[in-house]
Amino acid sequence: MCGIVGYIGTQSATEILLSGLEKLEYRGYDSAGLATIWEGQIKSVRAKGKLHNLREKLAGMEIPANIGIGHTRWATHGKPEEYNAHPHTDDTGRVAVVQNGIVENYRELRKELEGRGHKFVSDTDTEVIPHLIAEFLSNSSGNDREPFLDAVRQTVNKLDGAFAIAVICADYPRELVVARQQAPLSIGLGQGEFFCASDTPALVSHTQVVLTLENGEVARLTPLGVEVYNFEGDRLNKVPRILNWSPTLVEKQVFKHFMLKEIHEQPNVVRSCLEAYINSDWDAMNSLVSPTNLKLLPSLYKNLEQVEIFACGTSWHASLIGKYLLEQLAGISTTVNYASEARYAPSPLRANTLTIGVTQSGETADTLAALAMEQQRRYLDKPAEFKSRLLGITNRAESSLANLVNQIIDIQAGIEIGVAATKTFVAQVMAFYFLAIDLAWQRKSLSGEKIAEIINGLQKIPAQMEQMLETQDSQIEDFAHQFNETQDFIFVGRGINFPIALEGALKLKEISYIHAEGYPAGEMKHGPIALLDDKVPVVAIAMPGFVYEKVLSNAQEAKARDARLIGVTPEGEEADVFDDVLAVPEVDELLSPLLTVIPLQLLAYHIAAHRGLDVDQPRNLAKSVTVE
Ligand code: AGP
Repeated sequence: MCGIVGYIGTQSATEILLSGLEKLEYRGYDSAGLATIWEGQIKSVRAKGKLHNLREKLAGMEIPANIGIGHTRWATHGKPEEYNAHPHTDDTGRVAVVQNGIVENYRELRKELEGRGHKFVSDTDTEVIPHLIAEFLSNSSGNDREPFLDAVRQTVNKLDGAFAIAVICADYPRELVVARQQAPLSIGLGQGEFFCASDTPALVSHTQVVLTLENGEVARLTPLGVEVYNFEGDRLNKVPRILNWSPTLVEKQVFKHFMLKEIHEQPNVVRSCLEAYINSDWDAMNSLVSPTNLKLLPSLYKNLEQVEIFACGTSWHASLIGKYLLEQLAGISTTVNYASEARYAPSPLRANTLTIGVTQSGETADTLAALAMEQQRRYLDKPAEFKSRLLGITNRAESSLANLVNQIIDIQAGIEIGVAATKTFVAQVMAFYFLAIDLAWQRKSLSGEKIAEIINGLQKIPAQMEQMLETQDSQIEDFAHQFNETQDFIFVGRGINFPIALEGALKLKEISYIHAEGYPAGEMKHGPIALLDDKVPVVAIAMPGFVYEKVLSNAQEAKARDARLIGVTPEGEEADVFDDVLAVPEVDELLSPLLTVIPLQLLAYHIAAHRGLDVDQPRNLAKSVTVE
């Protein structure tokens, strides 16, 4: 977690660093700080809490420096206090460092450094870095060609863990040195100015030309250009890529929050997914080409017997829908694992398994580690049928996930800034429809007509979403006022809509801080029903189809215990069961999660916004969880 930025060029660094940090605040907001070099000294300013506290502190300070680094923190080692805020410096205050990640061996390094007389002032793992750099610098001989770069390089070689750093040194005021080991870092190339950031949204308003550092790389940025080396010191040739991102993607535009903007972007996200992945040349009667454009490697599918998925949070919920689709449409047995659990208790290896990592950010540490574990244990195992075949489903084609797996499905949702995932959830679910359709076609488990029917249904989803958003946004905004005092919510669903109950509960918890549980509707009577009374609203997702009557019966059971019953269901006779209805258009149950999730996202959003909470940056959370 944490976001880091850096700038070197001809403009005033402070405002560039602050606006970069604003774009990265989704990564953490426990404290913020920046350091620049001015009049031969490091000027460091830090503040506890969100970025606006740092802005206030900087107001009125004249620091016209042209080089600097900045940080927004999600606390791991040490409380979120100013003395733990980055940048951290060495004893002399000549070297300043910002870090995203964790230095796992910091305790032993700190002990060694303290033994040599270094004084530490924070509880962080990061502080060892400027001390080590300063020590290497003071030991460097006058013959060293690049003393600062070499000192950083020697330092990173001593660090264990996953980290990305940006470093400045008052003695080298025209150099910014950055390094990456398993935490993201990109460099933006401008005209006579260069930027670095943990994520590209911090770069797009300055440049579209971006160089992504890989693990084990260190770079020196000067006003003249960028040089990249590996940790051994060999110069590397890197080719930048062009982002083609409009800076408006990272602005709220007419919306009060990014989350609301992203909820409203969902119809277009579904449209783009359909455009990218449905093969318009496919003909239901001619099964020679796949109905999708996934173009997955034949080696991923060969003799496939099962699918194993690793994911966290909302991506885990999308994966549960994926399991339903893969099993019910393609007839392939699928297991969905919490990545954080599976990495310490892996299930016995099974042959001919496709392993899928689902992560919108492509940087979630637990998901990456679970995939790496899978790759390693499958590599060690000799027989060919046990070899690893890894597929990633992600919104960030340039992420660490992409380097780990054999192939990715890019969900193409566009950058998501709100910490609560909305449009990326829908796009992940779309990826599973395509995967299930592709596999069903390959395995001949569905007829051409059935596949065509599913695709037709998917093509209607964007317009149905638009219709829902148009009517429900203000309706749910008014409705949300009725839950000012509510402390608990229960969400229930069955079958393909059970994961939507989980997702509805997670959205409400994370942004409104209201306690919420998602349950399979049929499980209520096995315990949770004891929680119900007239103060606990129950949201039931009841879509006509296979389990419709069952959900309605479960809803009646809740009503009989005085619960206020809210139905996510089509309008009509059966809707009378509910005290309130959040209406969903008639749709095939199989496709319904793409629609039923919308009122639940809006409900969570409006309850939180009405309570005046920080919807886009809820407390204690970060958008990419790059620590275990
Ligand atoms: C979603 O609203 C959450 N903030 C969180 O659960 C998220 O889905 C989880 O951290 C996984 O992230 P990823 O998809 O980037 O791996």
